[in-house]
Amino acid sequence: SEDVVAVPVGTTLDRFIKRQQQASPAATGELSQLLRDIALAAKIVQREISRAGLLAVTGSFGTENQHGEAQQKLDVIAHIRFLRALRNGGEVAAVVSEEEDQVIHTGNPGSKYVVAIDPLDGSSNIDVNVSIGTIFSIYRRQSQPGTPAVEADFLQGGLQQVAAGYVLYGTSTLLVYTTGQGVNGFTYNSSLGEFFLSHPTLTTPVDGRIYSCNEGNIVDYPLAIQQFITACQQARFTARYIGALIADVHRNLLKGGIYLYPATQAAPAGKLRLLYEGFPMAFLIEQAGGSATDGQQRLLTKPISTLHQRTPLIIGSTQLVDLVTQQNKLLL
Ligand code: AHG
Ligand code: MN
Ligand code: MN
Ligand code: MN
Repeated sequence: SEDVVAVPVGTTLDRFIKRQQQASPAATGELSQLLRDIALAAKIVQREISRAGLLAVTGSFGTENQHGEAQQKLDVIAHIRFLRALRNGGEVAAVVSEEEDQVIHTGNPGSKYVVAIDPLDGSSNIDVNVSIGTIFSIYRRQSQPGTPAVEADFLQGGLQQVAAGYVLYGTSTLLVYTTGQGVNGFTYNSSLGEFFLSHPTLTTPVDGRIYSCNEGNIVDYPLAIQQFITACQQARFTARYIGALIADVHRNLLKGGIYLYPATQAAPAGKLRLLYEGFPMAFLIEQAGGSATDGQQRLLTKPISTLHQRTPLIIGSTQLVDLVTQQNKLLL
């Protein structure tokens, strides 16, 4: 029949990227190459992760990052691997990473993109063989290519993202990303060394029955959020919390549900970082038909003023996110 799916399941990531590029006449191929560089780094990191227990790369590295967190060896390894791939790929002028406080110049000032990354999300899961991930966010720089990229290139705001996505190193490795035209997911076939389209045009249910938060902190949460969680319990929702933002949001993306990381006593502005955790996940979830707020406003329009700024995050199925955000605003 004529009823052909444009991009069939099983298409390689490379071919998919190429088709997307061909479909947009203005594309120069630079973003396509950048996405391939990210996929390459993801393969390398997935290889390190899958052998972590054998390579003696578990445990802490003995240093702290600018957030005062003990860096795990794999935090540092993932940071180095992604940086190297982006540097060698040549399509990125500068990178901001969770693991380094300053803008990192790649030596490619002529490039027109900058990338913000959380190289390894869910660090506390590394040593216990539980899912971890990588988050990335891509901006077209505002400063002139040829000159060094500047902080302002990263502080354009969530709506200016050109592409965003994550790699989930779970029971299988999955790369999920958006360029603003929906969300697609690719599963890694390690014996072939390729990502294949496995989750075309991902959409998230508008409602759901899973809630995900660190319930040990519930007494610190704003009253409206405490009440919302009590209501979830009374309605016999399922509680699921992996402790890696990506894994929790990915599950809820597929099944419907809500993830909350509100402000707490230990993290009065929230724990998650706006630039490389909040914005990319919010862009992607909105592209899948879901919503994300900071408890008061749409996350993508939240003003950003510093590279490592934190934010409360409520993300997932639109009906749940809207409900708790409305209630929270009323009680403020
Ligand atoms: P990271 O490992 O990149 O520092 O991020 C950790 C984040 C996020 O992945 C996760 O959802 C959250 O921290 C878990 O925090 P708690 O241990 O406080 O629940
Ligand atoms: Mn960390
Ligand atoms: Mn993280
Ligand atoms: Mn991290």
